[in-house]
Amino acid sequence: MAEPVIGVVGLGAMGLGIAQVFASAGCRVLGTDLSEESRATAASRIAASLDRRVGDGKLTREARDTTLARLEVVERPEAMAPADLVIEAIVEAMEPKAALFGQLDAVLAPEAVLATNTSSLSVGALARATARPERVLGLHFFNPAPAMKLVELVAHPATATAALARARALTEGAGKTVIACADRPGFIVNRCARPFYGEALALLEDGHRAAEIDAAMLAAGYRMGPFSLIDLIGADINLAATRGLAEAMGNHPRYHVFASLERQVEAGDLGRKTGRGFLFPDPPGPPPEDAEAIALRIEATLANEAASLLGEGGVSEADIDTALRLGLNFPRGPFAAARARGLPRVRATLAALEAAAPAELKGRYQITPALEALA
Ligand SMILES: NC(=O)c1ccc[n+]([C@@H]2O[C@H](COP(=O)([O-])OP(=O)(O)OC[C@H]3O[C@@H](n4cnc5c(N)ncnc54)[C@H](O)[C@@H]3O)[C@@H](O)[C@H]2O)c1
Repeated sequence: MAEPVIGVVGLGAMGLGIAQVFASAGCRVLGTDLSEESRATAASRIAASLDRRVGDGKLTREARDTTLARLEVVERPEAMAPADLVIEAIVEAMEPKAALFGQLDAVLAPEAVLATNTSSLSVGALARATARPERVLGLHFFNPAPAMKLVELVAHPATATAALARARALTEGAGKTVIACADRPGFIVNRCARPFYGEALALLEDGHRAAEIDAAMLAAGYRMGPFSLIDLIGADINLAATRGLAEAMGNHPRYHVFASLERQVEAGDLGRKTGRGFLFPDPPGPPPEDAEAIALRIEATLANEAASLLGEGGVSEADIDTALRLGLNFPRGPFAAARARGLPRVRATLAALEAAAPAELKGRYQITPALEALA
């Protein structure tokens, strides 16, 4: 069988990584970008990334050369006619994505699949803007795409099973772990991750120090604490994601936007990129005496959010756990963590938090029916 042809539109942080993933896996990759400069530098930027792997002894020079030879930068999306699958990783806005899918629609073979790497837009709404909604789906890669194992495969109600199977086979063929999920705000990872940050902010507003909260999570086995992670990603990016999900979820108090995060952004202390964050440039301190209680509180809220998604159906406990391990490098998924701590203890923790919650957070810790039902 001929090698699969993958189109990638948008050769920025994500698109370049995605192009590298498929070219490394033996696919022919056609890449394009609106910006002439991005097109002109794409090959050298991928080469630099591959060169680092050669330098680390993880890739042979020969494999580097054959990978680069599989990548062809084309001027316009119309040149992607031979593609079996096109993944868009352009600007995060509905209008340009829909316009691009319209252009692609007109040139691709009828069975070709159109995938979006969107983090926050409705895949179904994007699909409805095309003449082939049944061949439109989400392939949500994580940053950096070559290193992160997880890809969320997002189906909207009209996506055809054959299109999902094709996208899954190609993505698994490129070495990724593919977890299917429904077209819901935040998919799995970006939604279930919210309490990791949100409850850390709640603890901060309760008077705990950021360094202690991070240290407590490190002691519980997490590679990075919530504040170090916000500092890495950028408080502005975190605030935008938090606000977006809060709005999409009807401003339920589980997605409360904490004032301490807003203040951090207003002050311009966004994290590594501005030289100062919640914690950055300081490291987390030693774990505080109540480290265990801090980690329990964060893990209890993570389990409650994961259970709320589980209760909506279409995704399993094991899938959610795998997605959070691979998408966020968590040492264990939220259900595994809750089971290790004991479900009765987790539920009691939430009940106590709910009883003590201030007015604006009432309902935040209410135990979801799916967590209540977990045996
Ligand atoms: N950065 C992340 O951590 C991350 C993670 C998962 C998903 N995503 C999603 O991936 C997509 C891309 O994000 P990114 O971080 O790579 O952005 P980026 O800004 O690094 O790259 C976007 C690229 O798309 C190009 N572009 C913009 N509009 C275009 C158009 N109409 N046609 C062709 N090219 C166009 C830009 O020139 C740029 O090179 C977004 O939808 C984003 O939400 C990002």
